Amino acid sequence: MATDTVAPGLDLFAEIARLKTQMNAVILAHYYQEPDLQDIADVIGDSLALAQAAARTRADAIVFCGVHFMAETAAILNPGIPVLLPDLDAGCSLADSCPAPAFRRFIEAHPGHTVISYINCSAAVKALSDIICTSSNAERIVRSVPEGRPIIFAPDQQLGRYVIKQTGRDMVLWPGACSVHVTFSERQIIRLKAEHPEALVIAHPECEEQVLRLADHIGSTTALLKFTTTSPARTFIVVTESGILHQMKKANPGKTFIPAPSENGCSCNECPYMRLNTLEKVYRCMRDGRPVVSVSDDLRVRARVPLDRMLELSRN
Ligand code: 13P
Ligand code: SF4
Repeated sequence: MATDTVAPGLDLFAEIARLKTQMNAVILAHYYQEPDLQDIADVIGDSLALAQAAARTRADAIVFCGVHFMAETAAILNPGIPVLLPDLDAGCSLADSCPAPAFRRFIEAHPGHTVISYINCSAAVKALSDIICTSSNAERIVRSVPEGRPIIFAPDQQLGRYVIKQTGRDMVLWPGACSVHVTFSERQIIRLKAEHPEALVIAHPECEEQVLRLADHIGSTTALLKFTTTSPARTFIVVTESGILHQMKKANPGKTFIPAPSENGCSCNECPYMRLNTLEKVYRCMRDGRPVVSVSDDLRVRARVPLDRMLELSRN
């Protein structure tokens, strides 16, 4: 019977491994998850890598250590298999900044536009879109739209602005933002650079323009992680959610990683949604078979079309 309690002293790592075999489950984890959750995952990745892993899995269940839109994407790609999210409240401020009814009106006000939506949005917003993108393929997806065709880009205006700069394409931007990435402070990064003149600044494109201007390298979480390994630099100021430091340190023993702070130095570089998932909640969701993230058949079929276009365009 499902209970909210866990026996004291239970070896959660061993129990999760046992349940994983019993359920023939795959555990997918985003880089922004706490280290323990990254360590139990079969696949750790950015939003694109996790969507690709969900698309190719043969498992009988997916345990998604990430946020709701990621689990929902896995459910869209895998009708008929349960997608478990350890905490159903693990949402996303960026996805919340774009409610589907308002987005539908926005699209209607811009007829003839190709609608590109960042994967950080609800299934209902995906269903209104022509193509989905992530931070690692946004530039490529925008360039796939024939020159001269007008584009709506939603919901992240920071990523949209960055891609406009990279591609020279004029796009209509939905005014959404990630509450974690827009709190990084330009002033604090300038201060850190002065304290560590040898350090390179690496930043996620969800950050504001004035912060990105200070960056030596900009990219998705996977791209930032790769850069720390290929760059000869020994010290990095990391301007994204601090969960990524776990893999950066593992891949680069001996290099130094300094998490960028916000203006008041709080731990706002931790996504409060991502961090709702814990090892105990992962164990409980596998033990109880819930909470499950599901999408109605009608919505799933419509949301899958732009997702499949993205997956097709992202093949190497
Ligand atoms: P990527 O996974 O594409 O790097 O995006 C980061 C993010 O904010 C996920 O919510
Ligand atoms: Fe959403 Fe930002 Fe958290 Fe990513 S870091 S899940 S975009 S709130």
